[in-house]
Amino acid sequence: MKLPERVTICEVGPRDGFQIEPDWISTEQKIEAVDLLSAAGLPRIEVTSFVHPKVVPQLRDAEAVMAGIRRRPGTRYAALVPNDKGAVRAVDAGVDELHTVVSASESHNLANVNMTVAESLDKLRAVMLVAARAKVHVGCGISTSFGCPFEGEVPVSGLEGVVRRLVDIGARTIALADTTGMANPRQVQHTLEHLMPKFPGVEWILHTHDTRAMAIPNILAAMECGVSSFDASVGGLGGCPFAPGASGNVCTEDLVHCLHAMGVQTGVDLEGLIAGARRVQEIVGRPLPGQIIKAGTWQRRYPLPDAVAARIGATRA
Ligand code: COA
Ligand code: ZN
Repeated sequence: MKLPERVTICEVGPRDGFQIEPDWISTEQKIEAVDLLSAAGLPRIEVTSFVHPKVVPQLRDAEAVMAGIRRRPGTRYAALVPNDKGAVRAVDAGVDELHTVVSASESHNLANVNMTVAESLDKLRAVMLVAARAKVHVGCGISTSFGCPFEGEVPVSGLEGVVRRLVDIGARTIALADTTGMANPRQVQHTLEHLMPKFPGVEWILHTHDTRAMAIPNILAAMECGVSSFDASVGGLGGCPFAPGASGNVCTEDLVHCLHAMGVQTGVDLEGLIAGARRVQEIVGRPLPGQIIKAGTWQRRYPLPDAVAARIGATRA
């Protein structure tokens, strides 16, 4: 397998995950979660989103969360914004980078941000200006890149059109998002092989949801194509409130475990991350889909059953 030596993970649980939690998570608990994740060495964290508070009420305390977190050197703190109003709020709140959102399909874009794709791209042009003035990096996400829960198949040519328009307004980092877990590894490879040579110099990120248990296989396929940046969510939290059937992102500790087991570095302290996942599980008040938190790492060993130990002893004697 062709694997990168090192992978950069952006933790999106505090945004993609918390945004769909129906019960209020206090500002203090959100801050605690972000601080645990940065302490575990995550290099990028999407802390929150600056969207309409009535549309995503769980994240209405975005400013307070940004003001309360402990800034660890070595972690870049980002927030999701759909428009320039959100970008101004996020920059004022002190984010290190902006993550924008537009969909590859019209229906999902209308459902998610109440704009056509063309209207969104106009807003994102304004976001780029806000970011340039503030000297803040922008990562541009494209929802439903591999399929739309309303329209079905999203042709690669349509996706390419959105990428082209983002690059034209200055995008240099692009996250292809599989919003409802429709992508399969062969499709991921095909899409990346199509796009990557056309847009040299772009940093590609894959944002996966594990809705159909294909997130890690899709990440492996993307690594084979040379992608080394991935979004993931602690415990496997996550889901888009405006995409029916969406469920959690690829689980951060499961992904880090898989990468470390293969000798790929992430800079993340897996034990610290697992402890953080346990605390996040307490905060949301239910078990999360992550596997490693239940199974332990591949190095875990169990005591031999007595009867088996006795037989081995007898054989040796
Ligand atoms: N933050 C706070 N308020 C905002 C805002 C933002 N980023 N963007 C717009 N608003 C306010 C406007 O100021 C206006 O306020 P007013 O009524 O007091 O004048 C009001 O919202 C309506 O503005 P408009 O531009 O018409 O927005 P809209 O109602 O069409 O909603 C979005 C558009 C993008 C703001 C909204 O759909 C949204 O926040 N979507 C986010 C969806 C999301 O987070 N999805 C999950 C992540 S992928
Ligand atoms: Zn997502």
